[in-house]
Amino acid sequence: MIKDKIVEMAKNAEDLLAPFCTCRGLGLHGISHLRRVAILSGRLAEAVGEDVESAVVMGFLHDCARRNDGNDLEHPHDSAVLARGLIERFFPHLEVDRICDAIEGHAGGEVTTDPLTACLWDADRLELKRIGRTIDLELLSTKVAKRLARKRMSSLRTILKVPEKVVPQSR
Ligand SMILES: [Fe+2]
Ligand SMILES: [Fe+2]
Repeated sequence: MIKDKIVEMAKNAEDLLAPFCTCRGLGLHGISHLRRVAILSGRLAEAVGEDVESAVVMGFLHDCARRNDGNDLEHPHDSAVLARGLIERFFPHLEVDRICDAIEGHAGGEVTTDPLTACLWDADRLELKRIGRTIDLELLSTKVAKRLARKRMSSLRTILKVPEKVVPQSR
């Protein structure tokens, strides 16, 4: 599947789902973050042979019930609850339990062996660079995401002119 098709799929998901997302209007975790994670999650799904539509919808909904850009500890659970109703309504053909389990666990700081879950968790962690955080390769579950992370970090280092050894390694 070409990237344009995944982008179009994410746009369709956004048109249907964005009006229900409480994170609308947030700076760091608003609709543009959902859109980027949806597209990246879909691309990872294609790379690992998982269902692209599930990955895109899951990516778009993973922070859908966030209320602020701070330490909203309830947002994975709240987002899974809101996502369940939206998936049952708009995407009843998808595996709702598997998707909602992935959303529920996305902020737990773990890695996973489930390839669909990995697409979301890795896509969200690859997004950490938008807030200037280092991507910890040990917290990525797929080889393809590790490759992407190395590329993103080296281009960031080039832009910032920072030598590799002083880039902080936070989890
Ligand atoms: Fe989140
Ligand atoms: Fe997120």
